[in-house]
Amino acid sequence: MPAYQFTLNGQTVSVEAPGDLPLLWVLRDILGVTGPKYGCGVGVCGACTSHLDGEAFRPCIQPVNGVVGHQVTTIEGLGGEGLHPVQQAWITEDVAQCGFCQPGQIMAAVALLRTHPNPSDADIDAAMSENVCRCGTYVRIRSAIKRAAL
Ligand code: FES
Repeated sequence: MPAYQFTLNGQTVSVEAPGDLPLLWVLRDILGVTGPKYGCGVGVCGACTSHLDGEAFRPCIQPVNGVVGHQVTTIEGLGGEGLHPVQQAWITEDVAQCGFCQPGQIMAAVALLRTHPNPSDADIDAAMSENVCRCGTYVRIRSAIKRAAL
């Protein structure tokens, strides 16, 4: 089986897998990185949202052979030694309910704040509208993004 090498949360990893295996399965089942969640598996719920070279992407629809030589960041690699300011804002605003979608929500929020450091409600709604939360924590998500932007 071919081996694919990429950077995951700052460390070089090499995995043997079929080239068309979605990265979400590589992360969760081969590398044991379970922050990105499996929700829909077809790129529509946002539960798996992570970063590819600093931009939000959906590992459930990204074949592993497409990330060779690239930087993949999951929620596990977001804060370095401590919490990322967006994670801290999530705690302060008590955003999570069941919590399942929240790693993806946070990764989407971080990507938004990189391009819109002081986002409007419309910016937040546009950027976050494809990250689904069945508990309906959207109002607190918006508050946490605004808190992190301060
Ligand atoms: Fe990837 Fe739903 S599991 S978008």
